[in-house]
Amino acid sequence: MVRAVCPGSFDPPTLGHVDIVGRAAALFDDLTVAVLVNERKAGLFTVDERVEMLRDALQQLTNVRVESFAGLLVDFCTAQRITVVAKGLRSGADVDYELQMAQMNHRLAGVETVFLPTSPGLSFVASSLVKEVARFGGDVSGLVPSMVAERLADRLGEPGVGGSAAGG
Ligand code: PNS
Repeated sequence: MVRAVCPGSFDPPTLGHVDIVGRAAALFDDLTVAVLVNERKAGLFTVDERVEMLRDALQQLTNVRVESFAGLLVDFCTAQRITVVAKGLRSGADVDYELQMAQMNHRLAGVETVFLPTSPGLSFVASSLVKEVARFGGDVSGLVPSMVAERLADRLGEPGVGGSAAGG
């Protein structure tokens, strides 16, 4: 039985994330989607909100669960008996950063990383861009799950949030 993890910030989850998680779920027996608790960076959504949106978007995938983690990813992997990290690659721009993390995770704990090429129709989709488009009233349907689109509209409509939503 091979257990894998799709880690990330997911602020907010996009259909690019859903694509990668769905394809990773077909490759591994058990898949955890792990949302980073980042003390140094406040997001637009709380970690609990991101977990909730991911659980809603991924509810059809029976071998997938969604959790949050703090600290090193490899420590979470060890605690959960996870041996593989599954990550999407959207373009060459992702490669250097992702490769460095993959090599560090292997060095730290022997955790392997498997890269999946993002589906071409979603390779331009990033959480930071989605937030920017939504902040200025652009249409994000087709880029994020429907619950996320609703939550974005609600959050960015809150007083004091729309003009200063966090990046990332
Ligand atoms: O969606 P992101 O922001 O690209 O995800 C990055 C993430 C969460 C996978 C990465 O920052 C991470 O694993 N952070 C946990 C801390 C850690 O293990 N750092 C060393 C990575 S080599």
